Amino acid sequence: MSPAQKADHPSDHQADLVIVANRLPVDRVHNADGSVSWRTSPGGLVTALEPVLRANDGAWIGWPGSADEEDVEPFVEDGLSLVPVSLSAREVEEFYEGFSNGTLWPLYHDVIAKPEFHREWWESYVEVNQRFADRAAEVAADGATVWVQDYQLQLVPQMLRAKRPDLRIGFYLHIPFPPAELFSQLPWRRQLLEGLLGADLIGFQLPGAAANFVRLVRSRVGHKTHRDTIYLPDGRPVKATAFPISIDTAGFEELARSEGVEQRAAEIRAALGNPRKIFLGVDRLDYTKGIYSRLRAFGELVRDGEIDVEDAVFVQVATPSRERVEQYRILRDEIEMLVGRVNGDHGRIGHPAIHYLHNSYPREEMAAFYRAADVMVVTPFRDGMNLVAKEYVACRFDNDGALVLSEFAGAAQELRQAWLVNPYDIDGMKASLMEAFAADSKETGRRMRAMRKQVVANDVSKWARDFLDELSSLPEQHDKHVRRSRAG
Ligand code: ADP
Ligand code: G6P
Repeated sequence: MSPAQKADHPSDHQADLVIVANRLPVDRVHNADGSVSWRTSPGGLVTALEPVLRANDGAWIGWPGSADEEDVEPFVEDGLSLVPVSLSAREVEEFYEGFSNGTLWPLYHDVIAKPEFHREWWESYVEVNQRFADRAAEVAADGATVWVQDYQLQLVPQMLRAKRPDLRIGFYLHIPFPPAELFSQLPWRRQLLEGLLGADLIGFQLPGAAANFVRLVRSRVGHKTHRDTIYLPDGRPVKATAFPISIDTAGFEELARSEGVEQRAAEIRAALGNPRKIFLGVDRLDYTKGIYSRLRAFGELVRDGEIDVEDAVFVQVATPSRERVEQYRILRDEIEMLVGRVNGDHGRIGHPAIHYLHNSYPREEMAAFYRAADVMVVTPFRDGMNLVAKEYVACRFDNDGALVLSEFAGAAQELRQAWLVNPYDIDGMKASLMEAFAADSKETGRRMRAMRKQVVANDVSKWARDFLDELSSLPEQHDKHVRRSRAG
C-alpha cells in the first residue's frame, strides 16, 4: 500500500478478513422506552455467514437496517466486530427497495414479478456501492481478504480494487444468476459485469449460474475466457465457479437435541391439538417462495376430503420482509386472504386447517418447529439455495420426517432424495404432499439418512473454507498483478 493510501486508513478497526454485505448480521431496534438494542437480521445470508465470521475473527461491514442512522461507530456485538454503513431514507427507497429489490431481485429470480428499471434507482445503487467500497478500503488491513456478498453490492469489487489493489477480493452471489436473455434486459448490464470483474474469485450457488456469467462476459464485454476463468486485458485472471452454500449443521443438530427444544416441540404439538401429522412451511414472505401455491394445494386436499383437519394441520411461518415494496404488500394480502378462506370454509372449532404466523423467532424456536414437523414443505419458484430445507434435515437426527422440495431451489441439486416437486403444478404438488403424508418410517428414514449425509458432509464451514482457500490459492497471477499495479 502506498503512504497516501495508508493515510486513508484509521489504524484501529483494521482486519485481515472483511465481510461486506448490505446488512449487518444484526438490526438496530429502537425500543419504546428510548433504548436501543440489536436483533438478528432476517435471511439466509446472515444465517450462513455469522458462524463464518465468528470462526475467522474478521470484521463485517453492513447497514444496520433502518434509515438515517447517522454515524453509528464500529462496535462489537456478541463477539462480532461490526462496522455500520448508514443509508438515508431516500437511499433505502432507491438503492435498497428500488434497484436491489425492485429491479435486481425479480430479474434474477426468473421475472416472477416484473422488474422495474429507473435511472434514479441506478444512480443511488452506484452511490451506495461506492460508500461500501470506501468503508471496506478503510477497514481492510494491508494485503487483507475482502469478501463482498450478494446482488446489492455488485459494483463494490471494481470500486474497491481501484482504491486498494493490494487486496485479495472475493465476491459471492447468494441468489440465482439469470440466463443471458433476462440479464441482457438490464440497461446497466455491462457496468454490473465489470463491477463483478473487480474480484479475483466470483462464487455462485450452482455451476449453471457460473457458466451463464462467463458466457455473458465473453459476449457482452468481449474478454477472453477459458472454462471458468476470464482473462482481463491487463492479464489479471478472474475465476467464476460454484460453491453451494450451507448451514452450521452441527450447531443446528445440537440445538435440536437439547432438552429445551425437545420440550418446546412437544408443547407446539400439544398446542396444535396433537394432530397425527404436522405440515410446516418457513419462509420470508417473498413471492419467490411459492407460499400461495403450496397453501392452495393443501387447501384443496382438505376440500377434497383427502386430509381431515383433525388428523393434520399446516403451520406456515412467514417472516415479515421488505414490507414497503408494493409487490410484497400485495403478496401478504393475497396469502392472508387465502388462509382466511381455507380456514373459513374447512376449519372446525379448535381445528383450523392452516396456522399462519407472521413473525420472526429465535433460532431455538425455529429448531422446535423443525422438530415438531412431520412434513416440511419448501416450494419456491426459484431460490439460490434455500437454507430452510437444510436446517430441517440437520434437525432430524433420528432420520425421521419428510421433505417436499421444489426442483427450482438450489438445494434440490444436493437433496435429491426429497419429494421433488414443480411448484407451478398444483396437482403434482398435491400428489407429492399426499405421498409424503402417507410415507412409512422405512421410506422417510431411507430418504432422510441420505440427505443427512449430504448436509453433514457439506456444512457452512466447509463452504467458507473452500471459497477462501481457492481465493488464497490464486497467488501467482494475483501477486504478479499487484506488483505490476504498484510499480505503475
Ligand atoms: P432467504 O435467504 O431467501 O430468506 P433461506 O431459506 O436461504 O431463504 O434462509 C432463510 C433463513 O431465515 C433461515 O436460516 C431460516 O431459519 C431463517 N428464518 C426464516 N423464517 C424465520 C422466522 N420467522 N424467524 C426466524 N428465522 C427465520
Ligand atoms: C436473501 C438475500 C440476502 C438478504 C436476505 C434478507 O437471503 O440473498 O442478501 O439479506 O434475503 O433480505 P433483506 O432484504 O431483508 O436484507
